[in-house]
Amino acid sequence: MIDRYAVIGNPVAHSKSPWIHAEFARQTAQDIEYGRVEAPADGFEDAVSKFRRAGGRGLNVTLPFKERAFRIASELSERARSAEAVNTLLFDGSGIRGDNTDGVGLVRDLQQNLGFALAGRRMLIAGAGGAAQGVVQPLLAAGVAELWIANRTAERAIALAARFPGVRGCGFADLAGERFDVAINATSAGLAGQAPGLPAGILDLRGLAYDMVYGRDTPFLAQARALGARACDGTGMLVEQAAESFFLWRGVRPDTAPLLASLREG
Ligand code: ATR
Repeated sequence: MIDRYAVIGNPVAHSKSPWIHAEFARQTAQDIEYGRVEAPADGFEDAVSKFRRAGGRGLNVTLPFKERAFRIASELSERARSAEAVNTLLFDGSGIRGDNTDGVGLVRDLQQNLGFALAGRRMLIAGAGGAAQGVVQPLLAAGVAELWIANRTAERAIALAARFPGVRGCGFADLAGERFDVAINATSAGLAGQAPGLPAGILDLRGLAYDMVYGRDTPFLAQARALGARACDGTGMLVEQAAESFFLWRGVRPDTAPLLASLREG
């Protein structure tokens, strides 16, 4: 029987994961099938069980289920534990393994694809929801010198930062007067065509502005570009997190460069 995988979320109709994994499979000559599972808000756990019982080997988990995937996993990787969220499930004989490839995907995109070394940098993350939570530990492991997490609702940033030694959490207004090398937008504001509401001038960066939202030029990126920063969307993170999931499932590492080129050409 062919090994089956899928992306599970709500909505998933526009997910690029089936296309990305089909390309990876073709490139590495892996005989797999990769589909989409749209689970109702109250039916995530049932949908996972059903997929697994039908012989499924693994799932990518997307919004809004990453925290629920963390809770159903019987075994967690170190990075899933630190993220308290799971984007990759692996089903083997005994149980459900949960991992999180979002952070490593972001770090690889920044360092390898964009050539932006993280060691020693002063970094700002805007947002304190699931997207921010998944990437803090891998960014620290990459050697950033200082990491600030700022959020519209300051308490959430303070609570998230408190889980990691040396990380500062604050509200947007508390950033006034600070200067960063790199700013990551991990808010969902861009999806609604909005800017997150950072203080004027904070995106006058010495280096790079990065929005985890992909495939569109968000107001965050436009503001940073207007101030002279290099501005990048989250397409590379999307492809790199997928490549790491594919590697976990299949034991082979696909080449992400041709997919990135083709996605960037639109
Ligand atoms: P996700 O898993 O995508 O991070 P989430 O947990 O709902 O989703 O978090 C969304 C994040 O985007 C939060 O940091 C949220 O800020 P609040 O905690 O203050 O709600 C942020 N966000 C969403 N829309 C925003 C907007 N228009 N301006 C600023 N921040 C926004």
